[in-house]
Amino acid sequence: MTIEHRSAGHAAGDDFDVDDPALRRFDLVREGARRDGVEIVHYAPRLPAGSRVEKRAVRSIALLISLSGLLAIAFVVAYTWWPWKYEPGMVASKFYTPILAATLGGSLFILGLAIIAWAKKLLPEEISVQDRHDGPSARDEQKLTGATILNLVDETGIKRRPILKAAILLPALGLGAAAVAPLVGSLLKNPNEGHIYLRTGWSPLNNNGQKVRLVRDDGTPIRPEDVSVGGQMTVFPGIPGGATNKYADSPTLLIHLREEDANALQADIAATKALAATGGEVEKPVVEGMFGNFVAYSKICTHAGCPASLFEQQTNRLLCPCHQSQFLITEQARPIFGPAHRKLPMLPLELEDGFLVARSDFLEPVGPTYWERPDEVNPQEKP
Ligand code: FES
Repeated sequence: MTIEHRSAGHAAGDDFDVDDPALRRFDLVREGARRDGVEIVHYAPRLPAGSRVEKRAVRSIALLISLSGLLAIAFVVAYTWWPWKYEPGMVASKFYTPILAATLGGSLFILGLAIIAWAKKLLPEEISVQDRHDGPSARDEQKLTGATILNLVDETGIKRRPILKAAILLPALGLGAAAVAPLVGSLLKNPNEGHIYLRTGWSPLNNNGQKVRLVRDDGTPIRPEDVSVGGQMTVFPGIPGGATNKYADSPTLLIHLREEDANALQADIAATKALAATGGEVEKPVVEGMFGNFVAYSKICTHAGCPASLFEQQTNRLLCPCHQSQFLITEQARPIFGPAHRKLPMLPLELEDGFLVARSDFLEPVGPTYWERPDEVNPQEKP
């Protein structure tokens, strides 16, 4: 029903008494608008109150709001509990980020739809002509504005539509929790629990306490004579699934250095050890991991985790194709160009029954830097 342009018995203008108890709230709203130079010429509900079409609209909007709330709660559940603990190669972990995006994005999108539907179907239709005024508002006008705002809340229909009031609680709770979840999430979960960043497939714990052999991707163990002088080979831990994504942090580059390059690397390691012994500043750990002229470095780039696998034999540089970091093999894979700022971890090697094996796991976490990353980890301290 369209509201009349003037309310009978209440003159508009300078003689309008805002404290008149006989005034309806909408009289105040209209007077407030008039004093602001806004003339309300049409004001009516879009759908007949209590009609079937209005009830259907209310139910649809309540459904959208509830769905939005459920998705927001699903986001918090997925963020916190699914999966509770990251395990390498776990299928559920692959869907973690898409699920976060789908639940929170879906929640906000559906809430937006609900707000638009509410405004289009349940808020009154209004046509006003507006003037502007300058300067601060008088007390009267503040009161009128307050009445306008309260009227707006009333007109949303939330007070007389309990189904919407109840439905809105879900997104309020869900989105509130979603906003807080990233802030308190780290208090709920310890990303270092189980030390998964400290152990790779080369740990003897993955091999019943036995040292782990270096193998090709088909599982064939490697003898020193399998790699020609100056050559290199990607190797994997010789354990079940060692060449799969379960041990994606384990691929290692085995290099058979030329005599002079091996001597240069030995000298560099010795010099670094001597410097460390005198209290000099060195990048830890200093690993004496060569076997003869063989050396093995993690292939996981210390910048952002790409495979650093382009070996330039003439210059003894290992190049990461992602952002062009270069590591000098004869100086313990120290970065000499690009964004990486830590050397590639060296895998300690030795020979057992004629095959190359890892003497221990890497002595530091492989891959990119992360908070609370230890510089070095003693094999005995490895989980
Ligand atoms: Fe290797 Fe960026 S990931 S340089």
